[in-house]
Amino acid sequence: RSAEPLGFNHRPTTAGDELSAAPSRYLTREERWMSQRLDHFSPTDHRQFKQRYFEFLDYHDDPTGPVFLRICGESSCDGLPNDYLAVIAKKFGAAVVTPEHRYYGKSSPFDSLTTDNLRFLSSKQALFDLAVFRQHYQEKLNSQYNRSAGFDNPWFVFGVSYSGALSAWFRLKFPQLTCGSLASSGVVLAVYNFTDFDKQVGVSAGPECKAALQEITRLVDEQLRSDSHSVKALFGADSLKNDGDFLFLLADAAATTV
Ligand SMILES: *[C@@H]1O[C@H](CO)[C@@H](O)[C@H](O)[C@H]1NC(C)=O
Ligand SMILES: *[C@@H]1O[C@H](CO)[C@@H](O)[C@H](O)[C@H]1NC(C)=O
Repeated sequence: RSAEPLGFNHRPTTAGDELSAAPSRYLTREERWMSQRLDHFSPTDHRQFKQRYFEFLDYHDDPTGPVFLRICGESSCDGLPNDYLAVIAKKFGAAVVTPEHRYYGKSSPFDSLTTDNLRFLSSKQALFDLAVFRQHYQEKLNSQYNRSAGFDNPWFVFGVSYSGALSAWFRLKFPQLTCGSLASSGVVLAVYNFTDFDKQVGVSAGPECKAALQEITRLVDEQLRSDSHSVKALFGADSLKNDGDFLFLLADAAATTV
C-alpha cells in the first residue's frame, strides 16, 4: 500500500464551485501537447508518446523573467491550480507550466496497463521527461518571443510528496537546468512495507476512532473471504474485481479524511 493516499493533492471538484463567486480554482485548463520519448535510455527505441501539459503566461510580463515548473505526480493533471504557486508567480512575474506525469491522466503511452507496458513507468524516465519538456518549452518561449535559440530563462521547479522527491532529484541530476527547487514533503527515502503512515493515521484519529477503523477493517477482511460481492456492494464497489484495490479504497477513505 502506498505511503500516500491517492488524490492527496487534489480535492475533487464539486458542482457548486463553478457557480460560486469564489476565485477560479484553475489558472488554466487549456490542454497543450508535446511529443515525448518513450524510453530515454535506449539508443535504438525511438517510439514517442503524447504528453499533456498546461501553461500560464499572464504574469510573465518580462520575457526574461522566471519560469516555474510545477511537477505533477501520480495522478491525472487537469490544469494549473490557482493556489499558492499562482500567488508567488504573480509576485515574481513568472510563467507557470506543468507537464502531466507519464502513464497518468491523458499522458499514457499505452491503452492497456499490462506489466510489459508498464516497464517505462519509473521516476528515472519521469525525470528525463521533465528535462526534455524543460528544453522543449524553453525553445517554444524563445520562438514566441522572437529570441535566438540558446536563450535561457531562470527555471525553478516545485513539487509535493512524490513530485517533491522528483523536484529534489531534478535539481540534483540537472543542476544546469534549474536555479532552484522546492521539495515539499518530498518522499526521498523508500521504505519497504512502510507502515508508519497508517500508524500516524491511527494516532491522529484518536483511540476511539482508531478502534472503530480497525474493527471495520477486520470485518471487511473477514467478509471478503466469505462473500466478497456483498461487502463490496455496501460501498457501491461491487463491480471492482480486484479485492486489493477495494481494500486500498477502504484504507484511503480513512487516511485521506484524517
Ligand atoms: C515576433 O515576430 C513576429 C513576426 O515577425 C511578430 O508578428 C510578433 O509580434 C513578434 N513577437 C514579439 C513578442 O515580438
Ligand atoms: C509489514 O510490517 C508489518 C508491521 O511490522 C508486519 O505485520 C507485516 O507482516 C509486514 N509485511 C510484510 C509483507 O513484510
